[in-house]
Amino acid sequence: MDGVRPDFTIAQDWQAYTEEEHAIWRLLFERQQKLLAQRACREYLDGLSRLGVAAGGIPDFRRLSDILERATGWRIVAVPGLVPDEVFFAHLARRRFPSTCFIRRRDQLDYLQEPDVFHDIYGHVPMLMNPVFADYMQAYGEGGLKALRLGHLPRLARLYWYTVEFGLIATPDGLRIYGSGILSSAGESVYCLDDPRPQRLRFDLKRVMRTRYRIDDFQQTYFVIASFEELFAATRPDFTPIYRELADQPDLDPAARLPEDRAFPAPLRGGRKKIGPQSIAAQV
Ligand code: PHE
Ligand code: FE
Repeated sequence: MDGVRPDFTIAQDWQAYTEEEHAIWRLLFERQQKLLAQRACREYLDGLSRLGVAAGGIPDFRRLSDILERATGWRIVAVPGLVPDEVFFAHLARRRFPSTCFIRRRDQLDYLQEPDVFHDIYGHVPMLMNPVFADYMQAYGEGGLKALRLGHLPRLARLYWYTVEFGLIATPDGLRIYGSGILSSAGESVYCLDDPRPQRLRFDLKRVMRTRYRIDDFQQTYFVIASFEELFAATRPDFTPIYRELADQPDLDPAARLPEDRAFPAPLRGGRKKIGPQSIAAQV
């Protein structure tokens, strides 16, 4: 493709966005703001508000990167779409987050098969403002290059799916969202917390690595971490022996339930509390 560099990056060409494209961003943004105020984790909401330039329309990656880089050393690089695994991991390992540039059409507000700029920027980038999560993502990039070499990428990809894309976190106010695939989806932001159908299981590294996932529907299982420190500590050890151990174990269905799983109770009907200063204090 024209203008694609050897590392698969392109120029964002921010000037070329139309007023209609910016309007679609604002529509998605405002809709999610209402849903996420009481559903997203504090770290996400914090990151988003510190990236204030994202509210007015599709952000200019350079301006956004300048804020992000000062916070955690990450930058956003523009890519034309999904890039080869090796390229993706290499960018993450260098603290560069590959983001698509195009935005969905107005008749696709609710569902899109592939990532667009709203998913990549609104969903992923605010979490990269958090220092622990920022380190986790870099470590994941390095781990991805290793998993590729060892031939165990599918197991590592499940970790990404069930944390970075669809993760939940337990807080004193109840479960909250940190996974980008949920944060950029109006339907799933409600479903993952409020619907009795999916199961919500305590995060367990090997359990996650064995669990297949669905890309064409809401998840049947969410994994819940206690903190980002816990997630990073659980993923820090060398995965080589874990990959070897799991090679002899069967994969699990997305809806599987094992006797040793620790499940969170199905949600109750009723109001949810806003995260306020008091509950933040309770978490430190
Ligand atoms: N510890 C992992 C490995 O050895 C790397 C990793 C860290 C993967 C954090 C994911 C997240 O492969
Ligand atoms: Fe994503």
